[in-house]
This record gives sequence, C-alpha cells and structure tokens, in this order.
Amino acid sequence: MDYYGEKIRLRAIEREDLPRYTAWFADAAVSENLSTQMPMSLVHEERWYEENLKQPLEQQALAVDLRAGRGKWEHVGGAGFHVVDKRNRLAECGLFIGPRQHWNKGHGRDTLLTLLRYGFETLNLNRVQLRVMEYNARAIHLYEKVGFVREGSMREAHFYQGRYWEMHLYSILRREWEARYGASKE
Ligand SMILES: CC(C)(COP(=O)(O)OP(=O)(O)OC[C@H]1O[C@@H](n2cnc3c(N)ncnc32)[C@H](O)[C@@H]1OP(=O)(O)O)[C@@H](O)C(=O)NCCC(=O)NCCS
Repeated sequence: MDYYGEKIRLRAIEREDLPRYTAWFADAAVSENLSTQMPMSLVHEERWYEENLKQPLEQQALAVDLRAGRGKWEHVGGAGFHVVDKRNRLAECGLFIGPRQHWNKGHGRDTLLTLLRYGFETLNLNRVQLRVMEYNARAIHLYEKVGFVREGSMREAHFYQGRYWEMHLYSILRREWEARYGASKE
C-alpha cells in the first residue's frame, strides 16, 4: 500500500521513474547532499533499481509523489529506510526532493513525517536516525523542526570539494514522535 501525507504520497519505484533520478542527481545542489557525488547514468540507475528490489521490502527506496490536481501526481523525489535493524528496532532514513522549484514549500517536512509514520506505526521502529553533511543548512533546519535531536558529529567523515566536512548524526525516538505527532496530535 501507499502512504499519504498532506500533499505527498510514498509509493514503490517503477522502472519508468529512473530517467528522472538521473536528471536530479546530475544537479550538484541535490547530489552534494547525498551519499555519492559521482556522475550517474541511466544504466547506473537501472542497476541500482535491480539491487533495490533485492533488499527486504522495508529497506527498499520509495518514490515521493506530489499531488498535482485531482487524481494526478508528479514524481518529485525519493525517501526510505536504507538500514533496518529489526532486533534493535532502529532504521536509518534519507530523503530528497529533486526539482529545486519544489524546495522550501513544506514537501520535505510532509515527506519526512509520512516516512516516520510508516516507520513507527507500520514497521514498529523505536528509533529513526539519519546523517547529514554539516553544510546542508536546509536539511538540518528541517530535521530539527520535525523533532530530530543531534547526537553528535562524525569528524572529517565526508570529503568533498577538496576538504573534509563533519557529518552530523540525528535521531528521533518513538516516544518523542508520539509526544509530538501520535494519536490525534496531527
Ligand atoms: C533537504 C530537502 C529534502 C528539504 O526539502 P524541502 O521541501 O525544501 O523542505 P521544507 O520546505 O519542508 O523545509 C525546509 C526548511 O528549511 C528552511 N531553509 C531553506 N534554506 C535554508 C538555509 N539555507 N538555512 C536554514 N534553513 C533553510 C526553509 O525555510 C524551511 O523551513 P521553514 O518551514 O521553517 O520555513 C530538499 O531541499 C532536498 O532534497 N535537498 C537536496 C537533497 C538533500 O539535501 N537531502 C537530504 C540529505 S540529508
């Protein structure tokens, strides 16, 4: 099943979505904040897609669609849990909105809250964590606004543009999420 936020939905990725990922990842403003800064072709994306399908369902990347009118949706990004540790009920999450014209309109928040609801209410997670580059001010603002707590920084963990950067580690616990958003809070 798909998961719906205010204006977005999370759904499984289809093969025909892949050219959009190639275009988005060609934009440095998107890719410099993600895990790889390598040039990515459609063939790379197709390989990634096949690998994604081999992952356990709860660990597969999802597409983010934005409502674009009655019954119409525009594919605008990706989100998901790329590490799911069932014993400790924790997962690491990530998200991106590809087209820059869709930034700063609340879709990142909508996506993250929908992903957290899926994680806490369906996957029965207790902790969701994420890593973010120290230079990604927009994402840091978003995570803190949603309620993620900074636990520390990994020193010189990311090399980009000829220098090392810190990677901040953030998390939100189920009880913190419930206190803010659970049972009729939103
Ligand atoms: C990070 C990202 C997912 C956020 O999505 P979004 O739709 O722009 O997010 P939202 O609009 O919900 O929230 C962005 C917030 O950051 C604020 N913001 C924007 N630029 C900022 C800056 N330079 N410094 C601080 N805050 C900033 C916005 O004003 C907004 O806050 P507000 O709601 O209090 O006004 C999106 O910009 C993106 O995909 N970026 C590229 C990939 C990426 O960084 N992914 C995350 C990797 S950890």
